[in-house]
Amino acid sequence: MTDLVISEEKIIERILTLELVRVTERAAVASARLRGRGDEKAADQAAVDAMRRELNRLPIEGTVVIGEGERDEAPMLFIGEKVGTGRGPRVDIAVDPLEGTTLCAKDMPGSIAVMAMARGGSLLNAPDVYMDKIAIGPGYPPGIVDLDMTPEENIHALAKAKGVKPGDITVLVLDRPRHADLINGCRKVGASVRLITDGDVAGVIYTAQASQTGVDLYMGTGGAPEGVLAAGALRCVGGQMQGRLILDTEAKRERSLKMGIKDPLKKYSMNELASGDVIVCATGVTDGALLKGVRFGAEVIETESVIYRSVTGTVRRIQGEHREMSKFQLD
Ligand code: FBP
Repeated sequence: MTDLVISEEKIIERILTLELVRVTERAAVASARLRGRGDEKAADQAAVDAMRRELNRLPIEGTVVIGEGERDEAPMLFIGEKVGTGRGPRVDIAVDPLEGTTLCAKDMPGSIAVMAMARGGSLLNAPDVYMDKIAIGPGYPPGIVDLDMTPEENIHALAKAKGVKPGDITVLVLDRPRHADLINGCRKVGASVRLITDGDVAGVIYTAQASQTGVDLYMGTGGAPEGVLAAGALRCVGGQMQGRLILDTEAKRERSLKMGIKDPLKKYSMNELASGDVIVCATGVTDGALLKGVRFGAEVIETESVIYRSVTGTVRRIQGEHREMSKFQLD
């Protein structure tokens, strides 16, 4: 009998799970209107405005722990900003209203609107610095790959666990000069390297769908906020991930210390990046392997979203057909 009783708190969270879709849908539609216009800033701003407006309608007492930057540099969705109606559960909010601003501005595949919600104190309050990341999908024994191993060692270990040759492993890496050694290391053992120009939240999530995406392993350095969002999503599907902040200047170390990061060299496990009951929601802006982009029709706007919930491991895909077009105008 007790199993059948759902506490009020849980009901709120269950309802909120679906409410989050509205938030990323609005951000995605707003920025999708600016796809291919070559203006990253405008596309990002449109997503930020729309996401903030919708977040403030949620019955939550939310605090942005990962946002557009610190208060002095970001007027909206800054770290520490309170969002929601103020009535409801106290939650941490992590947002990336437009992940892959350049992809959107150039109308290239893979830009998404993404956010996470978790109980207060569950998400690593990551400063806007780089993070060294490694991720694989579900189905492997714990500790198969590790940030402290070389790329070659990681590929060998993963290939062995998968029962294939290193040459059968595909590694996803952000195409950046800083990754030259990493890419060489992967190729030296015969692995295939798939390069992406941007968008490593989706890049990490691709490892969880290796049979569809062909990506076995994500390695390299990308944004720390994106690392926390990706960890939240990957937790739901049972992959493995580690992240280490790159705090290579005194200023960055001081900034992180203020945000509660005492050990600048700490290697965070996936569960330390995003713990507890985390809900991650994303909507496609441009077409990508993870999600379809927004389609604007004469009478209908179509969106595709995905919601991950870590506590149950549920993944929901939601196709939206929005007929009240006025709702997507600035309101
Ligand atoms: P933006 O949407 O903020 O442009 O981030 C895109 C992105 O590619 C992220 O996915 C990634 O984590 C980060 O940039 C990498 O940073 P950089 O472009 O400085 O190498």
